[in-house]
Amino acid sequence: MAATVALLNAWKQLLTLCKLSPQESVVILVGDESHPDHVASAKMAVTELGARGMTLQLGEAPQVRMAGESTAYYAPTALTGNLPALEAMKRCNLVIDLMGMYRGSEQEEILAAGARIILVKEPPEVFMRLLPTEEDRKRVLAAGEIMARAKTMRVTSRHGSDMTVRFGQYAVLEQYGFADAPGRWDHCPSAFIARWPDELSAEGTIVLAPGDTILPFKSYVQTPIRLTISQGAIRKIEGGLDARYLRDYMAMFNDPEGYAVSHLGWGLHRKAHWTALGMYDKRQTNAMDARSFWGSFMFSTGPNAEGGGSRHTPCHLDIPMLDCSVNVDGVDVVIDGEVVAG
Ligand SMILES: [Fe+2]
Repeated sequence: MAATVALLNAWKQLLTLCKLSPQESVVILVGDESHPDHVASAKMAVTELGARGMTLQLGEAPQVRMAGESTAYYAPTALTGNLPALEAMKRCNLVIDLMGMYRGSEQEEILAAGARIILVKEPPEVFMRLLPTEEDRKRVLAAGEIMARAKTMRVTSRHGSDMTVRFGQYAVLEQYGFADAPGRWDHCPSAFIARWPDELSAEGTIVLAPGDTILPFKSYVQTPIRLTISQGAIRKIEGGLDARYLRDYMAMFNDPEGYAVSHLGWGLHRKAHWTALGMYDKRQTNAMDARSFWGSFMFSTGPNAEGGGSRHTPCHLDIPMLDCSVNVDGVDVVIDGEVVAG
């Protein structure tokens, strides 16, 4: 598709939700893979809303990465070490990140300086279909209240998952798809709640069943994978071909930190759907449907620096699961893939 009035209007809606006001300054961060229609439309929307825009086109990334997706890959980017670019973003009010900066360091520095950041990686049609609303924010914040006071979580499924974790040590991640306050980061589109569990606290079993999605593979599990978890990390990966694939992919990083249990939570987007991923080529989408669909349970592995921990491993898997039940402090919040609380 080309840049259209509909896309321009969607951008204006997003920037309005981000509370962009006239005279504020905006940096549009552009990388090698940024969608040109987003670059053009974001630029026009910034101008139409009366703000001061600047497009920052960065050079090549410092290392070649395996095909996949930036939101599931934690490593240096074209921004790493580019101090003038970093300074420009620290001094603006809003960064529109169309590249996908490393979330463990530069991003924290920019947010600490008071700028807000909205990341957009989905192609225009997904972006427009899942465009956030004020309702998404209310729903996510209600779930965020549950997560903020959570001490324990237990997730179960009819396929045999039964895992418990403790909370308290690390942050809650409230993603509702727009960045409307100084120092806030968000990813558009998305709507889910998550939190990083306490170090060493995850215990039990996660069984990935057919239909669950593994990111960055961007594919559906076909054969069950049994993950044995103790002292906060995956200790065994058993099953058929899918298990072998996952095992060998993770082993490639040669990094024990990649096996740690990372952020856990559930999807809250009414329009996102787990089947959407099957409709796109892998390079076309960043899988935000999969990360956000209503009632999903998100299991993940690897880094926790973004939540306040010290793990920076690039081995990061987001694994949205179907039909799980999630219980927080003895109260059911998701039953068989249906959200029942918050
Ligand atoms: Fe993640």
